[in-house]
Amino acid sequence: MRVLVLFGSPKRDRHTGELLDAFLKQLPVQAHVEEYHCFSSPLVPCDGCGACDVQGQCRHRDGDVLWDQLEQADVLIVATPIYFMSYPAPMKAVVDRLQRYWSIRFVLGKKPTIQRPKKGFLLTTSGSEGDQADVVRRQTRMFFSILNTHFCGEVDWTHTDNGRWDDALESRIKEAISCLQE
Ligand SMILES: Cc1cc2nc3c(=O)[nH]c(=O)nc-3n(C[C@H](O)[C@H](O)[C@H](O)COP(=O)(O)O)c2cc1C
Repeated sequence: MRVLVLFGSPKRDRHTGELLDAFLKQLPVQAHVEEYHCFSSPLVPCDGCGACDVQGQCRHRDGDVLWDQLEQADVLIVATPIYFMSYPAPMKAVVDRLQRYWSIRFVLGKKPTIQRPKKGFLLTTSGSEGDQADVVRRQTRMFFSILNTHFCGEVDWTHTDNGRWDDALESRIKEAISCLQE
């Protein structure tokens, strides 16, 4: 089982990293995990040039290794803090660069865009209470749909401002991961 993590926090050892580690701990032992750190390996943002509408490829090649990892993955995990109700900018740049898969699907008419189906999870952290992940959830569902990825589950750690791990997260992780058995 190949697992790709799109990691959106600037630091691996803060809340988002802690939530991700708790999630990875519950994955089957045979899982092979690769992490893509959006802050330390930023992609050039999409400028809407339209090249992918013609070639199905981006004119920028800085995402080539990531696209290979994505296409080979069985499980896709988006682990991100919420910044102003959305993704942090380098994560949003990665998401926008997925436009090439939208073009492959809807302009060039290829379905599925990626042969290997995937199971996808969303992990978020946010400083405040309440549903801060609403926008990110909708964005993530949208790009999962063009990546042949089934949205399996979501775990949101809210109110990280109080700094304490919430034990209820463990059972929410377990419940989300049960989707891998289906
Ligand atoms: C630029 C910025 C914007 C933020 N926007 C929100 C927000 O809209 N809602 C919220 O609840 N928390 C917001 N936060 C708080 C972070 O989501 C929260 O601290 C999160 O746990 C950070 O993840 P990390 O510990 O992995 O860095 C924001 C933080 C920053 C730095």
